[in-house]
Amino acid sequence: MGDVRPETLARIKTPEQAQAFIDEQIREIKAQVGGGRVLLALSGGVDSSVCAALISKAIGRQLSCVHVNHGLLRKGEPEQVCEVFGKEFDVDLVYVDAVDRFLDALKDVSDPEQKRKIIGRIFIEVFAEEAAKIKDVKFLAQGTIYPDILESKDGIKAHHNVGGLPEDMKNFELVEPVKFLYKDEVRVVGKALGLPDNMVFRQPFPGPGLGVRCVGAITRDRLEAVRESDAILREEFAKAGLEGKVWQYFTVVPDFRSTGIKNGKRTFDWPCVIRAINTTDVVEVTPEYLPAELIEKLVNRITTEVAGINRVLIDYTPKPPATVEWE
Ligand code: XMP
Repeated sequence: MGDVRPETLARIKTPEQAQAFIDEQIREIKAQVGGGRVLLALSGGVDSSVCAALISKAIGRQLSCVHVNHGLLRKGEPEQVCEVFGKEFDVDLVYVDAVDRFLDALKDVSDPEQKRKIIGRIFIEVFAEEAAKIKDVKFLAQGTIYPDILESKDGIKAHHNVGGLPEDMKNFELVEPVKFLYKDEVRVVGKALGLPDNMVFRQPFPGPGLGVRCVGAITRDRLEAVRESDAILREEFAKAGLEGKVWQYFTVVPDFRSTGIKNGKRTFDWPCVIRAINTTDVVEVTPEYLPAELIEKLVNRITTEVAGINRVLIDYTPKPPATVEWE
């Protein structure tokens, strides 16, 4: 028991079913935490955002959300978290600007797994430091969803939400209101809670964020090139009606240069790689072939608007042999 989805929980598909689930969870959360303080690491991803919104409806400012900006988020994301959870939902929001700390620690580190480890370690350090400043925390909320539980049970992956917790947080009682929901149900609940569509229906985004798309050792200027080109890509996909239709799409900026010409002058800049893919299981992925007009628009905008880019390439490699991310 405890970790098996109750048979009485029907698949949540409609706003009415979502509302019934929300009402029930509000009662359960209130009963579980009473007057206690709850802590949540809020990344701005679907699961943690829905979790925060749900708990906020139940206990308001008894919920402290810590949003760590590691500098590797997409354009506009930290601002959106602050807008939604600082204004629209009633929570105690702690925003931490840890950009310099992450980028300093990542300086000159080019090995992908090493980069991931550093990002993970510093994230836990920063979160623990902020948590220590919040008085009388008794509960730790997590946006664990049912596939996380199933996958950790099958030994496919360690339960990513529980894995790296610092010792003093392991004593907190867990609050996991969406742990029996599948991803599509979490989205229906998020929509019913009034979260913005671009938060609820967003594409998957890796924990190490743009860090694994700024190939090799991360530099601030190349990281900005990844962030700006990603923003243009997302904007143009939305305009072309591809948002929500293509499973994942992003840009990558490798750490090598090629020659070009801009305004009659020689340039020696980076290429920007576009990757757009579809999948059902993430084990195998197929490329999304882009319409010629969209490619033309992207090449034009990225090479003119993004500093340091003089060439655009498209990665049409399936997985296998390639992985989704370049690192
Ligand atoms: P790969 O590159 O392994 O990606 O084919 C499969 C899916 O996983 C995402 N991904 C990650 N997600 N932490 C994450 O939370 C990571 O370190 C990580 N690496 C890859 C990737 O974006 C894709 O959706």
